[in-house]
Amino acid sequence: MLSAEREAVRARATEEIGSCASREELAAIERRYLAREGEVGRLLATIKDAAPADRKRIGQEANALKRAIEEVLRARRAELEEEELAAERRSEGFDPTLPPARVERGSLHPVTLVTRELEDIFTSMGYLVLDGPEVELDYYNFEALNIPADHPAREMYDTFWCDEERHLLLRTHTSPVQIRALEKLVPPFRAIVPGRCFRNETVDASHEHTFHQMEGLVVGEGISVGHLIGTMKTLLREVFRRELDVRLRPGYFPFVEPGFELDVRCPFCEEGCSVCKRTTWIELCPCGMVHPSVLRYGGVDPERYTGFAFGLGLSRLVMLRYGIEDIRHLLGGDVRFLEQFA
Ligand code: FA5
Repeated sequence: MLSAEREAVRARATEEIGSCASREELAAIERRYLAREGEVGRLLATIKDAAPADRKRIGQEANALKRAIEEVLRARRAELEEEELAAERRSEGFDPTLPPARVERGSLHPVTLVTRELEDIFTSMGYLVLDGPEVELDYYNFEALNIPADHPAREMYDTFWCDEERHLLLRTHTSPVQIRALEKLVPPFRAIVPGRCFRNETVDASHEHTFHQMEGLVVGEGISVGHLIGTMKTLLREVFRRELDVRLRPGYFPFVEPGFELDVRCPFCEEGCSVCKRTTWIELCPCGMVHPSVLRYGGVDPERYTGFAFGLGLSRLVMLRYGIEDIRHLLGGDVRFLEQFA
């Protein structure tokens, strides 16, 4: 291609680009000149037929032409965008005083909020925060907790089994982490274990198949029921911001001896309300002194060490805390519910 011819292509492209009236038209012009089959593309394709001495020059000139056209295209595209925006501003529907489109922001789930709050309270008392597997071995979920196969206490836990041989299951409580902690840590220690649990139960306003518990485990020399009560009272004072009475009733769990159900005075009434079912007491958590054979399963000497453990129903505490009447809201995924905690 001669220089004059190249100059003519450049002039024609500049002319067409300058008079085009929309971005679509501009894109068509771009294809016509710069695509592989376009005018500049064809020029580049002639390189291979040119005399070797001319190839470098033709290549440089073709590239210069390409860059020149690209530059004119870019400038015209910016002009067209500006014109479109100006037209939009002039049109009737445009109101520059409107607020910008709202960016939706997520928020922490109420279970996460309460978990974090409890973690703060317990870590300030020297507790570790531990974790454990949700898919658990029968050994940790039952056997090492003093619940061998055929033990009637297994009926308290409607279990989702993961295999036919019934070695693996979805943990029914956070208590298996008691054994895992005893195996790993050297007493004295204090730990909490917030986490998800699963039970093959009929779902209703206060029972879910998937819910949260928070296990507590304290092991040391001379640990007594007094320490357990003191700890629970401190927890309640922090959560409900006042002193609340607690009481212990006998409760049966094979992994504690003695075992208790700990109730708390209803924080919402003095004479009975729907939350406390008119009794003025609310069941808060089962607890007790760690059974000597559980300590032994975990490799800890029960002659030297004692401990207490509790299994806080975290989902239920969340409900109490925020006045949520149905546990199914927690995992229902309804954004209208979740937005209230933003
Ligand atoms: C246990 O799970 C024992 N591991 C607790 C324990 C720990 C006892 C340490 C002694 C020492 P229980 O099955 O009662 O116990 O459950 C404890 C709490 O979990 C209940 O009080 C309740 O608040 C909560 N919970 C149990 N099942 C469900 C469910 N289906 N939905 C929601 N919360 C539940």
